[in-house]
Amino acid sequence: FTPPTNIDLKKYIRTIPNYPHEGILFYDISTLLRNADAWQIASARMAHGIAAWQPDLIAGIESRGFVSASPLATALGCGMIMIRKPGKLPGKTISIDYDLEYGQNCIHIQEDAIKPGQRVVIIDDLLATGGTLQAAIKLLRKTGANIIGAAALIELKNLKGREKIDVPLFSAITYN
Ligand code: PRP
Ligand code: MG
Repeated sequence: FTPPTNIDLKKYIRTIPNYPHEGILFYDISTLLRNADAWQIASARMAHGIAAWQPDLIAGIESRGFVSASPLATALGCGMIMIRKPGKLPGKTISIDYDLEYGQNCIHIQEDAIKPGQRVVIIDDLLATGGTLQAAIKLLRKTGANIIGAAALIELKNLKGREKIDVPLFSAITYN
């Protein structure tokens, strides 16, 4: 359905200072997820934002990205693949290391996750520095994937993460 545009979803997102580290303002989507109407509208806005790209596959980034990605795959009739943290995927995987706003990390996908020519959209809950999404794009490209776009539920504009992303990028909720 076409989601209403006059509802301020920011009301449902809680910010928590100094979590998980001193000086980090944490955008907590738990309070959005808990509200049935707000979460339905947020998911619909995401689905609406990426539908025209006509993806075959939605790739969600563990773990909050899974929550954001899964309803989009269902709504758009796509398959879903999981970009996971180390040690979670059976079989052969490929991986990439990356820097996070607070620390370092590594993500994997199964090497046979994407068939040649499939149109993939990558989903995460939050675009902050863009390091995670940029790493996910690089990782999927190692398989020869056709990444047609990416979307985040929340974009923190002042961190300029968007500048690192070389595919069309949709975000449903933005902060300056
Ligand atoms: C958070 C968030 C994004 C990423 C954004 O994930 O969910 O994935 O950081 O930051 P960036 O744009 O600076 O890379 P986190 O790794 O904290 O873990 P989680 O999703 O498992 O909670
Ligand atoms: Mg995450």
